[in-house]
Amino acid sequence: MKERLFSGIRPTGSLHIGNYLGAVKNWVDLQDKYESFFSVVDLHAITTPFNPKELPSKIKDMFCEILASGVDPEKSTLFVQSHVKEHLELTWILSTLTNFNWLTGMIQFKEKSEQHAENVNLALFSYPTLQTADIALYKAKVVPIGEDQVQHIELARDILRKFNYTYGDVFIEPKELITESKRIMGLDATNKMSKSLNNYIAITDTSEDIFKKLRPAVTDPARIRKTDAGTPEKCNVYTSFHKYFSDEETLKTVQEGCTKATIGCIDCKKLLHKNMDQHLSPIRERYLEIKSKVSYVDEMIDFGREKAQKVASETIKSVKEVIGLW
Ligand code: TYM
Repeated sequence: MKERLFSGIRPTGSLHIGNYLGAVKNWVDLQDKYESFFSVVDLHAITTPFNPKELPSKIKDMFCEILASGVDPEKSTLFVQSHVKEHLELTWILSTLTNFNWLTGMIQFKEKSEQHAENVNLALFSYPTLQTADIALYKAKVVPIGEDQVQHIELARDILRKFNYTYGDVFIEPKELITESKRIMGLDATNKMSKSLNNYIAITDTSEDIFKKLRPAVTDPARIRKTDAGTPEKCNVYTSFHKYFSDEETLKTVQEGCTKATIGCIDCKKLLHKNMDQHLSPIRERYLEIKSKVSYVDEMIDFGREKAQKVASETIKSVKEVIGLW
């Protein structure tokens, strides 16, 4: 029997290079090894301000982008979180075991409360308990994520350990799986790439748009003139992008050219653009094709819901039994 894996992504806008490299690309690589559950976590997305008119298309677009990236709905279970009501049921039960002080220490809560000071709501505060329920419903052992989510998985372990200690061993303590691309910086080289900071390249951006965004991207500050030598490891274009999109030969050319000042930043970006576009254009094309097949997408959403619901309802049944709610 394969071990179970769970991961989720909020439908807050386009899939960008950051969450693609930090999460979704790994999902594709891992789906053969694990029994995988991937979710478009719309219930998480509504904890920060959103537009109800745009939400349905954002959910579907994210679903299509994940399919286009290579998640296979036959191998994995890909579903929309709010379609499986057990996520909310288990969240309530796990809330009774989530220590208030544990939640006050969450970095993401602090960041989001500052970003959305006008709406610091209860759901934003208890967000990590919902995330724990997501993982626990499928009894997942492995959770592939970017670095910013590690603290939430540590908390998930605490909550589930407390559950098992209190009511008996129902859950598996999950473990995060992070890779080298665990924290992709934005084009500003200062902040993590994110939609809200507008420092991103979307995986469905056109070739021209990608270059328009790359052209002003921040590089090694030492390279003011073309003749100034630089250090690739100090250049975000190299560390966040070239490293993941370029082959060994290009990396060598860029490293040498940068340290010896024989290649300018713009030529380095042109090489990157070519490689990035080569990687992303098949995804972009698949995305447009999938998106145009409206009934296929709806069918896949239903298919995913059915598969997820089956596992989730079994878990909830056993949870209710052990806590005396049956
Ligand atoms: P979200 O939607 O912010 O991001 C989805 C995944 O992408 C990773 N990520 C990044 N990795 C590297 N560099 C970046 N710049 C970058 N930006 C995002 C995130 O770490 C994440 O793995 N709370 C989660 C969603 C969630 C979840 C779960 C994840 C809900 N339930 C259960 C795992 C298990 C979130 O907001 O991710």
